[in-house]
Amino acid sequence: MRELTVGLGQRSYPIHIEDGCLQYIGQDLAERKIANRYCIIADDRVASLYGRTVLQSLQQSHIGGELITFPEGEASKSLSTFGALCRELARKRYDRRDGIIALGGGVSGDLAGFVASCYMRGIPFVQIPTSLLAQVDSSVGGKTGVDIEEGKNLVGTFYQPKAVYIDPGVLETLPAEQFIGGMAEVIKYGVIRDAEFFEYLRREREGVLALDREIITKIVLTSCTIKADVVAEDEKESNIRRILNYGHTIGHAVEAASNFSIIHGKAVAIGMVAAVRIAVAKGICSETVQQQIVSLLEEYNLPTAIPEHLSREQIKNYILRDKKVVSGKVAYVLPLALGEVIITDEVEPLIIEAVLA
Ligand SMILES: NC(=O)c1ccc[n+]([C@@H]2O[C@H](COP(=O)([O-])OP(=O)(O)OC[C@H]3O[C@@H](n4cnc5c(N)ncnc54)[C@H](O)[C@@H]3O)[C@@H](O)[C@H]2O)c1
Ligand SMILES: [Zn+2]
Repeated sequence: MRELTVGLGQRSYPIHIEDGCLQYIGQDLAERKIANRYCIIADDRVASLYGRTVLQSLQQSHIGGELITFPEGEASKSLSTFGALCRELARKRYDRRDGIIALGGGVSGDLAGFVASCYMRGIPFVQIPTSLLAQVDSSVGGKTGVDIEEGKNLVGTFYQPKAVYIDPGVLETLPAEQFIGGMAEVIKYGVIRDAEFFEYLRREREGVLALDREIITKIVLTSCTIKADVVAEDEKESNIRRILNYGHTIGHAVEAASNFSIIHGKAVAIGMVAAVRIAVAKGICSETVQQQIVSLLEEYNLPTAIPEHLSREQIKNYILRDKKVVSGKVAYVLPLALGEVIITDEVEPLIIEAVLA
């Protein structure tokens, strides 16, 4: 069992990473005495794959639990599903001594976490992330929320879980496309904080793609360690946490301009390349680094260029509409070298034009 801590004073919490840990969750929760009983919230696909395992684990430790499901997909990350889940908890008479388990990908985590933060003004919750993206990114750091028609993630809270349990074994059933998307975020950590990890991902590519448990455990652990360190330093994203947005400013715009037909991870890969090209054009990063980033993304079958059919005009508009734009200034996270980035809003419009062209 590997365990690390997200250090946030009294709200610190452990991240357990262990192959097969889904079966032992009840035991650990019983020892931690986080809540009397748990409502497991999962999408229907993940519920049918892993709901029983988690329920049985709770039962074996004599903890009450039940499963509530919602339809798979981003469309469920909505105010209406949020409302339905809150009402279901109320009907089942959940109170402040009870808790929520978010089981699934980032959609379950964000949605169930948001419910936990609002229901009765906040009840404890635990994350069991099952997609690679959720295991290395969304389950750690406490951002919760839902989408509204006016924009993604526009309604939400910062609300930290009490514990995160990661079982790399569940990735066996994750669709390959989703796995590859998650790898974009993994590569991101190498670029922003850890050149050695970047090299590891290059060297162990075959093992990663074959889901070698040892190697997957290592990449999840390293990714979570980096995210946990950054979050512990700047929980509410007033400063350093923004480096996690590397590749996301242009990535989000590409995702939106494609009408979400390009999945998040692939859009982030495109955004990471665009950002390093900006850095090269500004003269703060070498072309060698740009080439290294492009090559690694390609080795993981991730796209590195904006598809020709997407409107550049539209992408530019989406960049300016990003919710992180402050008084018209777009902040870019730009690599200086592998493992080192800066945040700057000083990028000539001409450079953006050239990179998007
Ligand atoms: N809170 C944060 O910090 C944060 C960070 C990044 C992304 N997000 C959010 O995360 C969401 C995307 O997360 P996602 O990509 O995990 O989406 P998701 O939750 O929809 O999961 C993707 C798909 O994989 C399936 N799935 C998940 N685990 C599986 C498994 N082990 N086996 C088989 N199928 C499995 C799901 O049913 C779903 O169909 C977005 O809403 C995004 O905004 C949040
Ligand atoms: Zn992302």
